[in-house]
Amino acid sequence: MNFPVWDLGIAPGLLIAIVATLHVFVSHFAIGTGLFLVLTERKAYRDDDKDLLAFLKRHSLIFILFSVVFGAITGVGIWFVIGLINPSATSSLIHAFVFGWAIEWVFFIVEIIAGLIYYYSWERLERRTHLIIGWIYFVSAWLSLVVINGIVTFMLTPGGWLENQNFWSGFFNPTYFPSLVSRTFLSLALAGIYALLTASFQEKREFRLKITRYAGKWVIINLLLFGLSLLWYWKVFPDRIIEAAQGAIPITQSMVGWVYIFFLALILVTLTVSILLPRLNRAPVAILVMLLSLGLFGATEWVRESLRKPYGIYNYIYINGIFPDQIPEINRNGVLLWANWVSEEAKSVRSPDTTGYEIFRTECMNCHSLSGYMNVGRYIEGWDQQYLYETLGRLDVLRGRMPPFAGTDEERYHVVSYLTGFTGEPRDYDTGKEVYDDRCGNCHTIGRYRDIIPVTSDFSQSELKEEIIPMLHEMNEDMPPFTAGEEAAEKLAKYLSELSDTEGQDE
Ligand code: HEC
Ligand code: HEC
Repeated sequence: MNFPVWDLGIAPGLLIAIVATLHVFVSHFAIGTGLFLVLTERKAYRDDDKDLLAFLKRHSLIFILFSVVFGAITGVGIWFVIGLINPSATSSLIHAFVFGWAIEWVFFIVEIIAGLIYYYSWERLERRTHLIIGWIYFVSAWLSLVVINGIVTFMLTPGGWLENQNFWSGFFNPTYFPSLVSRTFLSLALAGIYALLTASFQEKREFRLKITRYAGKWVIINLLLFGLSLLWYWKVFPDRIIEAAQGAIPITQSMVGWVYIFFLALILVTLTVSILLPRLNRAPVAILVMLLSLGLFGATEWVRESLRKPYGIYNYIYINGIFPDQIPEINRNGVLLWANWVSEEAKSVRSPDTTGYEIFRTECMNCHSLSGYMNVGRYIEGWDQQYLYETLGRLDVLRGRMPPFAGTDEERYHVVSYLTGFTGEPRDYDTGKEVYDDRCGNCHTIGRYRDIIPVTSDFSQSELKEEIIPMLHEMNEDMPPFTAGEEAAEKLAKYLSELSDTEGQDE
């Protein structure tokens, strides 16, 4: 690996998620509001509506300030953060799409210039010219989405590019169009949400109600279209999304739930405060709607990002910067030889604290932290050394979606010894469910992904205890040997046969 590891102290994914979500939220906003402004301006001219024109002028000021200043700062922030956290994947993206980035940048410049002219030329230019500038703003903003969408979807579904490394195969990849359409509708819905907020500050009651209803329609229609296009989007990669929703990736499973919750809440609240009872649209309510939309946005982005796990670019490079085809060599020669930036001490002294820590840092700390969110200690508390060692050999089978451990056996032992500092004493289990959660639930689920019931229900409790549980690793090498002891095996066997019984009664 040609890059040093950036020690953040928190799970880096969380930092990327925060910076990226805010940036992408604001830039979607900027696109949708472009269309909102020109269409509403045209309406105002047609109806000769002075109040509406004055409203649009103020609306465009805050909007331009916000999207230009905040958009530019967070945009640079994304480059800064991903460049430090995922240097190899970022480098691959830059190399694959040199001209894509250049064109995106040109559209961005046009967008900013048109936006500034649009704001400063209200009442100074002829109406028709002013509208044309508004259209230039919107079209260039949307075209920058057209470009960036190719690169963002490429990371999730690189498609034919993996074979031919061709720009267009990577760009117009399988999720390109559903993503473009859903992002477009989302940006239009966000424009309506922003208009609800500025409407809530209008002092003339009649005018406030009128704008609120108008903006509410924007939100509802576009949100519904967004929902439909998400279904299309999800259809494009059915296996992974279905597995994820069935619990293959625990965090994604709960985020999919949040997408539904935020979506429904946003529709219901907006419908109530804009169409049914528009007088309710005051600043706190409009801010609530805005926060709900940020929640919906964050949850959908989170799901999309997590489907990519464990890859930075799907099937091409892992999040920790290792290319899958490098793994056999790393397993032979050791990860310490591959990682240029580990300390000399780690290479020569070879102890858990130096070697183990350095390997953990290089391979694992892209997702894990030592405390807080994704804190590795939380997952392995009470594990015995052998179980840890066996699990590390099967990281890519676990539900969390991790890259496989890369390195020699000796290196794996160093990581295990280092991690033993976080496990504490091997634990005693009080109930069979605890044994299941700790020893089986990290790969199986009950009733969903890799369902445990059909594979255990044919056996009696004593068969489970005597024949199945001690033999798991021989039945299928993906499973670690059971190392928690006789008593735990007994509790687990009882728990599993009760599970099959209750399942039987349900049928
Ligand atoms: C792509 C991100 C990623 C990388 C890289 C990663 N992990 Fe994980 N790890 C996860 C996730 C996600 C989970 C489980 C989350 C959950 O169950 O909610 C997890 C869980 C674990 C667990 C507990 C398993 C369980 O489910 O009980 C262990 C042990 C672990 N990781 C060790 C490692 C080690 C060691 C490395 C480096 C060799 C590593 N991880 C690299 C994302 C990652
Ligand atoms: C590291 C991941 C992992 C862990 C931990 C794990 N399993 Fe499995 N297990 C698998 C995989 C993978 C299969 C293959 C079938 C599948 O994909 O559904 C499997 C299959 C099985 C089978 C069917 C085997 C066969 O060949 O018919 C049984 C029985 C089973 N698991 C029981 C358990 C029990 C009980 C535990 C807890 C003590 C457990 N497993 C823990 C990954 C795991």
